[in-house]
Amino acid sequence: MDQIRIRGGKPLTGDIPIGGAKNAALPLMAASLLTDETLRLTNLPYLADILTMANLLTELGTDVKPDNGIHERGMGGTVDLTTKSISETTAPYDLVRKMRASVLVLGPTLAREGHARVSLPGGCAIGTRPVDLHLKALQQLGAEIELAEGYVDAHAKNGLKGGHVVFPMVTVGGTENILMAAALADGESVISNAAREPEIGDLARCLQAMGAKIEGVGTDTLTVQGVKKLHGAEHSVLPDRIETGTYAVAAAITGGELTLTGTSSNLIQSAIEVLTSAGVEVTETGRGLHISRANGALRGVDLMTEPYPGFPTDMQAQFMALMAVSGGASMITETIFENRFMHVPELCRMGADINVHGASAIVRGVEALSGAPVMATDLRASVSLVLAGLAAKGETMVNRVYHLDRGYERLEEKLNACGADIERVA
Ligand code: EPZ
Repeated sequence: MDQIRIRGGKPLTGDIPIGGAKNAALPLMAASLLTDETLRLTNLPYLADILTMANLLTELGTDVKPDNGIHERGMGGTVDLTTKSISETTAPYDLVRKMRASVLVLGPTLAREGHARVSLPGGCAIGTRPVDLHLKALQQLGAEIELAEGYVDAHAKNGLKGGHVVFPMVTVGGTENILMAAALADGESVISNAAREPEIGDLARCLQAMGAKIEGVGTDTLTVQGVKKLHGAEHSVLPDRIETGTYAVAAAITGGELTLTGTSSNLIQSAIEVLTSAGVEVTETGRGLHISRANGALRGVDLMTEPYPGFPTDMQAQFMALMAVSGGASMITETIFENRFMHVPELCRMGADINVHGASAIVRGVEALSGAPVMATDLRASVSLVLAGLAAKGETMVNRVYHLDRGYERLEEKLNACGADIERVA
C-alpha cells in the first residue's frame, strides 16, 4: 500500500489552485437521476469518491461520459451524465459501504421511479452517522419506508407529495436528499431548519437550472414547488472550501506564504476569523486568497465546530495541527460528530500536547513537532497529519494514503510545487 513521505520544516511559497468541491460534486452527480436529459457538470475534482459515485450511477442506468477519461486516482473535469431511464433502483451494499454519500441517490431515484432500495450505509470512523432524518423527511413527502436485510426500501406508488419537513437537527445530506426529492414531488414542500452549507446552495442553483422551483436558497427555510419534469443543464461545481482551508493552514503552519487561486474568502469566513486571531494574515487579492505568516509566532485560539456558517467539522483536524504548534493553549470542541478526534493520538506521537475531555480537546502548543510514522482513519484526520508533517522536524510517513485520494486532488504535486518535500512511495 502507498505511503506519503514528508521531510518537514520547509516554508511553503507560491500558488495553489483550488479544485471543485467534493461535497458539492457528489449530490450534483446524484441530481442527474432526476432527468432523462443530460446534466453536464464542469470543475469536478479528480477524486476517488467522484469515481465511486460515477460507478454507482452507472449501476442505476446513467450514461457517464467524462471528457478526460478516468485517471489512476479517480475521475473529474467535465462530465456528462445522462439517465434516459433508471434501469436499476437498488443501490447495492458493495458500493454504498465504500462511500456514505451514496445514500444521496435515494431521494432522486424515489422521486423519479416511485421506488428506491438503498443499502443502509452503517457507521464509520467518525461516528455512527445514521440516516434516520433522511427517511423521516421522505415519509413527510408520502414515502412508505421499510428497513429489511440492511436495506432501505422506499415506495411512493402514486409519486411523492409536497409536505412540511422540519429537521430536528441540521443535516447536510438529509437536506440534499429531500431537496432533490421535493423538486419532482406533487405540490409545495417546505424544508425548515435546512442546512445552509454552500454545497446546498450549489445543488439548489443546479436544480434551478434544471427547471426546479426553489425559494429561500442560502437560508434555513427552502420552499420548493414541485414540477412534473426537470431538464438538462450545465453547471460548474463551486470551489472546495475545505481544500481552501487546508492549504491556508499549510501556509500558516510552515511559516510560509501561499496564494490560493480559484476560490473565495466568502466560503471560509469562520476559518479566516480563527486564522486572523491566531496571527495569520489573510487577504483577498485580484489573484486569489493570500495567506501569510511570514513574521511572528502563532497564538492558540479556541474554536467549536458548528453547522455553516459556523466553523466546519471538516476543518477541525487541520486546525488542531496548527494549534499544536501555536503559543499558549486552545480548546477545540467538536459538536457535529461524536468520534472525530482520531488524529489526536497520532499528533501526540509527533510531539503534540493534547488532552481530550469528552467533546473537547485542550491543545497546549509546543515549540516544534517531530516527524514519525503515523496513520489515520479518515480523510480530514489524514490531511492533518500531512500538515503536521510539513511543519515537523525530520521525516513523517503517512500510512493509509487512500483516505487522502478520496478528497484531495494531486496533493503531493500541489505542495511540492510550493517547496514542500513530499512524495508518494510504494
Ligand atoms: C456531510 O456529511 C459531509 N459529507 C461531511 O464531510 C461533513 O463532515 C458533514 O456533512 C457535516 O458538515 C458530504 O457532504 C458528502 P450530516 P453528512 O447529515 O451529510 C447526524 C468529509 O470529510 N445525523 O450533516 O453525512 C450525523 O450523525 C465528510 O468530506 C443523524 O443523526 O453529515 C451527524 O452527527 C465527512 N441522522 C450530524 O447529524 C441523520 O439522518 C450531521 O451530519 C443524518 C445525520
